[in-house]
Amino acid sequence: MDKMTVRDVEWQGVRALVRVDFNVPLLDGRITDDTRIRAAIPTLRYLLEHGAKVILLSHLGRPQGRSAADSLRPVFERLQSLLRGVEVRFADDCMGPEVERAVAELPECSVLLLENVRFYPQEEQNDAQFAQALARLGDVFVNDAFGAAHRAHASTAGVARYLKAVAGLLMEREISVLSQALEAPERPFVAVIGGAKVSDKIGVLENLLPRVDALLIGGGMANTFLAAQGYDLGQSRLEPAALDLARGLLDRARQMRAQLLLPEDLVVAAALAADAPHQVCAADSIPPEGMALDIGPRTVARYQERIRGARTVIWNGPMGVFELAPFAAGTRAVAQAMAEVHGVTIVGGGDSVAAVEQAGLARHMTHISTGGGASLEFLEGKTLPGVAALTDRPVR
Ligand code: 3PG
Repeated sequence: MDKMTVRDVEWQGVRALVRVDFNVPLLDGRITDDTRIRAAIPTLRYLLEHGAKVILLSHLGRPQGRSAADSLRPVFERLQSLLRGVEVRFADDCMGPEVERAVAELPECSVLLLENVRFYPQEEQNDAQFAQALARLGDVFVNDAFGAAHRAHASTAGVARYLKAVAGLLMEREISVLSQALEAPERPFVAVIGGAKVSDKIGVLENLLPRVDALLIGGGMANTFLAAQGYDLGQSRLEPAALDLARGLLDRARQMRAQLLLPEDLVVAAALAADAPHQVCAADSIPPEGMALDIGPRTVARYQERIRGARTVIWNGPMGVFELAPFAAGTRAVAQAMAEVHGVTIVGGGDSVAAVEQAGLARHMTHISTGGGASLEFLEGKTLPGVAALTDRPVR
């Protein structure tokens, strides 16, 4: 990576102002998935072992002003248990004299988690004064919030104008794994892209098409591609406004002789319900009252074969409505085939990550991205503001 990282800094006695992405799901004030907190621990341990004072910044949710429901306090409690043996403190604010005092009193090798930066509208406005006030709390800025790196906010990008800014270990890993796959993948390189909408992922599809050896499409977006080829999809959900985008991509694939694979059969139900009667239909014979809700067994076999034979696989988005058991087989089959790959396997996007975890296959993947929107924008080839703001490594 051409950016400086935590390894390039001498930390003894230094105040490390660390942006993490602790935007975790909460239900009734309890954390339902702490992956993002655990993913930041190696960076925090590195800084603590090297003598830093660690001051943590994060957002949680999308609050409009201060709100108890979006407090980082539950995260503080989880962090304390994950960093046993380390003193972890919490401040009820993220700026101001009280916070400055808490930072001044912070002993070396301990952690201070500040309250949700989004309690201030200036955070998302990337307000310069707000960024400066945050910058006063540290000597060096560490960005480990890959999941928020697509946001040009005060705590992700603005603060880097006032402090040396280096990548944390999670940020470094996310960027190096994803860039390696995009720029110098071991081949064959296969991308599996699913999810509901073509319009959400068109940028990713366009950027991946010339790079991969095969692009396998599933999920609701496959309906739109099939409809763009003239198939009648019955009552299936599709995106009429994206038919031209889909046609454009299919034309491009044809011109490039690229392998863009669409489902040849589908699991079709009478309604979107777990107990709805369902059957397997060829893509060209979906009944007028039917709804395609998963890829069918012939497609599963074809996709699995391509995935198993690859040396690099990127997966983003489910193949069907995997939350309902009768329509989960396609998504599970992708996870299973990826677990058998002899090579690099990368999973991004909340639903595909959840599917891999539910199937108990997470430990078989090379990398599970902590970024939803951020990993999609990275795969689109966009420059992420949180990454661009990091200090360049000096040219030797
Ligand atoms: C995410 O969950 O994708 C990140 O934490 C960014 O959150 P946001 O979409 O609210 O900016």
